[in-house]
Amino acid sequence: MENLQLKTFAEYKKAYKKSVKHPETFWDEIADTFTWHKKWDKTLEWDFSKPEVKWFQGGKLNITENCLDRHLEKLGNKTAIIWEPNDPDEESRYISYRQLFVKVSHFANVLKNNGIKKGDKVCLYMPMIPELAIAMLACARIGAVHSIVFAGFSSAAIARRINDSECKMLITANEVYRGSKKVNLKEICDKALEETPSIESVIVYRRTVEPTPMKEGRDKFWFDELQKAEKECPAEVMDAEDMLFILYTSGSTGKPKGMVHTVGGYMVGTTYTFQNVFQLQKNDVYWCTADIGWITGHSYIIYGPLASGATTVMFEGVPSYPDYGRFWEICEKLNVTHFYTAPTAIRALAKQSLEFVEKHDLSSLKVLGSVGEPINEEAWHWYNDNIGKGNCPVVDTWWQTETGAIMISPLAGITPTRPTFATLPLPGVQPALMDDNGEEITNLNEKAEGRLAIKFPWPSIARTIYGDHERYKEVYFSTYENKYFTGDGSYRDASGNYRITGRVDDIVIVSGHNLGTATIENAIDEHEGVVESAVVGFPHDVKGNALYAYVILYDNVEPSEELRKEIRELVSDTVGPIAKPDKIQFVNNLPKTRSGKIMRRILRKIASNDTSNLGDTSTLLNPEVVEEIKEKALV
Ligand code: WTA
Repeated sequence: MENLQLKTFAEYKKAYKKSVKHPETFWDEIADTFTWHKKWDKTLEWDFSKPEVKWFQGGKLNITENCLDRHLEKLGNKTAIIWEPNDPDEESRYISYRQLFVKVSHFANVLKNNGIKKGDKVCLYMPMIPELAIAMLACARIGAVHSIVFAGFSSAAIARRINDSECKMLITANEVYRGSKKVNLKEICDKALEETPSIESVIVYRRTVEPTPMKEGRDKFWFDELQKAEKECPAEVMDAEDMLFILYTSGSTGKPKGMVHTVGGYMVGTTYTFQNVFQLQKNDVYWCTADIGWITGHSYIIYGPLASGATTVMFEGVPSYPDYGRFWEICEKLNVTHFYTAPTAIRALAKQSLEFVEKHDLSSLKVLGSVGEPINEEAWHWYNDNIGKGNCPVVDTWWQTETGAIMISPLAGITPTRPTFATLPLPGVQPALMDDNGEEITNLNEKAEGRLAIKFPWPSIARTIYGDHERYKEVYFSTYENKYFTGDGSYRDASGNYRITGRVDDIVIVSGHNLGTATIENAIDEHEGVVESAVVGFPHDVKGNALYAYVILYDNVEPSEELRKEIRELVSDTVGPIAKPDKIQFVNNLPKTRSGKIMRRILRKIASNDTSNLGDTSTLLNPEVVEEIKEKALV
């Protein structure tokens, strides 16, 4: 578990240098520590102009052998997953590496019995229960490609994702507990399934005893299928560059992007970064609070920790149930040593009485992590002081669905931290800070601000957007020649530490969730009373950002609270509840450039109540609308 760890800052610096100078040897040595059926012939082949990146070509492996089989001898009885239920009175589940191995193999045969083969796509729409981990690993075991859809998305959003990658199977649960609520996932799936012709079978895990309507011939219960399945399932031998999973992330156009990750590079990247960033020791208990429906859950609840032989916690519930002390209660109960969460959760918890924290013994904690959005100074200090008691290094980890693994972050206890800074690139990561003219700012000894690009491939980079390689090229490789563009702005201090300042495109991060404004606009525009809309983000003290929608109605439609409600519901149904705009302003017109593009920069400023300097509006086709919108702004 600790075999890949760098132990001192000097070792980090040395490794970093080597990774830049001799990237192939550097990654060869790391990849060599895994279990392969056949060693690769070629470490790296790349061309960002195509773009094409291939790592460990010719290598043969299965990631589940690295996450499970290879640990059996020494760590078979070690707890792989501790599951903590939504309701604190329900029992936690402890699943050892051996048990997980058996469960994954057994369920892999259920997939096979239902016609799933290597290369087939399987959609998972599941709550945070161990069966989600089992199902995803079972897919990987037989070489099927999982496409996990966060179980907060709407029927329409599931259908779009299933259809985009033509999934053959859907795995879900009948219901899910979330705080004091129960959500009927099967019902949401049934609605999606009306529009998904590629789905041949649906496997339903019973999380509750409620009766569940099942469609004859298509829907099958998890347990019934297990009864019919064999227990042993040899791992499918995969090429390093075979697809491991597709995970959808928001884009600047309405359509989500199915990011494709491949087996070998992703495994090496997530495991190496997991071990180095968090620095776990033998008996540590690691807890990442993300949902597995997002990349953080894929890489740092499942693949990175399990490939490292760590004990990883999965939590079904929410931080506020039964009260705002739940996270700390779990840390105390499970003796969590490594705690990894998002700034939005930290801010929400920091708003509550400190008693919720102080009631619990947090002395087991050693390392705190942050991910998903910039962490503001206040949240950083609250986390450091009240949760870490000033004793736990805070690792602010910057990365993306597309990067697969952490890119810029301190190594816990090794890299000097600085509040709000993700600090230094991990070995193998070569950031480039770009100025307004598209030139790289190369002087590392002078502070600078710009946009963040990466100029050399790393093993876990997404290889393409499923079914749309052109878009992949356009979005990530066309802004700067020969560089991957992250879509983030960044500041760099005179010691080379990076602080990520936020998105510079039409993606807004709301409570740590990536949302494309175009998708939400499309949803709003579906309303029969709506002509056009524009959605922007504005700062929010808990969510980081919240959404503000400007909506033009048809002449014969009266603005009303009722209409606002309808629009919010529509967004909830089309995208998901997380995408509901906080504010909806009805406007007669939107500021547009002469070429007809909405000038979002101005709308963003109005929504943020920052109108002292709206910048140049002279290029607008209709500058007069700015005043009008400003006057009636909901701020
Ligand atoms: C943002 C989540 C600042 C960033 C792993 C990025 C961050 C987007 C940080 C990717 C951080 C993530 N500091 N911003 N530590 N981590 N981001 O794909 O804007 O859900 O581009 O991946 O989150 O979000 P995604």
